[in-house]
Amino acid sequence: MGRVEGKIALVTGGADGIGEAAARLLAAEGATVIVTDINAAGAAALGDSLGGLGLAHDATSEEGWRQVADTVRDRFGRLDVLVNNVGGGLPDGNIEQRTLDDYHTVMRRNLDSVFIGCKLGVELMKDAGGSIINLSSVHGIRAAPHEAGYSASKGGVRLLTKSVALHCARAGYRIRVNSVHPGYILTGRMKAWVARSHNGPDLLASLVAQHPIGFLGEPEDVAGAILYLASDESRFMTGSELVIDGGFTL
Ligand SMILES: NC(=O)c1ccc[n+]([C@@H]2O[C@H](COP(=O)([O-])OP(=O)(O)OC[C@H]3O[C@@H](n4cnc5c(N)ncnc54)[C@H](O)[C@@H]3O)[C@@H](O)[C@H]2O)c1
Repeated sequence: MGRVEGKIALVTGGADGIGEAAARLLAAEGATVIVTDINAAGAAALGDSLGGLGLAHDATSEEGWRQVADTVRDRFGRLDVLVNNVGGGLPDGNIEQRTLDDYHTVMRRNLDSVFIGCKLGVELMKDAGGSIINLSSVHGIRAAPHEAGYSASKGGVRLLTKSVALHCARAGYRIRVNSVHPGYILTGRMKAWVARSHNGPDLLASLVAQHPIGFLGEPEDVAGAILYLASDESRFMTGSELVIDGGFTL
């Protein structure tokens, strides 16, 4: 029997990177997985291959979220696990370099998407309970000078998570809400960024040097934490921040 056998799980931004690894692991452990992504073809291909569903979805759009929630209700009748995974750092830079428009772009992708996701997740889960898992970052705990908007948005995800967790607990909903805080993870996008850099090996070495464990994480390292929070093994955890960072924040 799988660790999330029979659960209905939705992963936003699930066509690539950490979201893809989480979708694959949840499916391998018995969940029916709904993969949503702005990359419609990628979501459809992965959702089908996992025996679940793939949906085109812009997680920054409330209307888009409503359509996804309606589809989940019609097809499955409930949702047990929601992974609010969509996020990313660009455009970013320090406070002197970036504009208010850049900042709003990052906030929409990283924080608004999680706010709407939590709102609809609670709506879908409040009768039967469930687990909401929000992707923050080590930069939601420790600020990065070169990532003003990213740090602000990921700090926001951290406290939004706790607020929703408290609300659900006090309302007696049996919905657990936790955040995940990865260090630097070697996704395809990260590898491409390093490869494009004029000093790739130095950049990689400087990233590794910030992680006391001596290496960078793989998407599967974060997927394992997501699986744990999705499963009933973590039934006593809510509002917590699960750090997977090789010691970055120590
Ligand atoms: N990779 C890291 O080093 C790292 C570290 C800490 C935190 N994180 C966080 O983990 C999460 C996943 O990061 P990743 O590196 O795997 O990302 P990624 O860029 O590899 O994949 C992101 C996926 O989200 C999709 N996407 C982007 N915008 C979307 C939107 N508006 N609506 C729907 N889908 C959209 C993309 O098409 C892609 O499939 C993010 O929240 C990120 O901030 C990543």
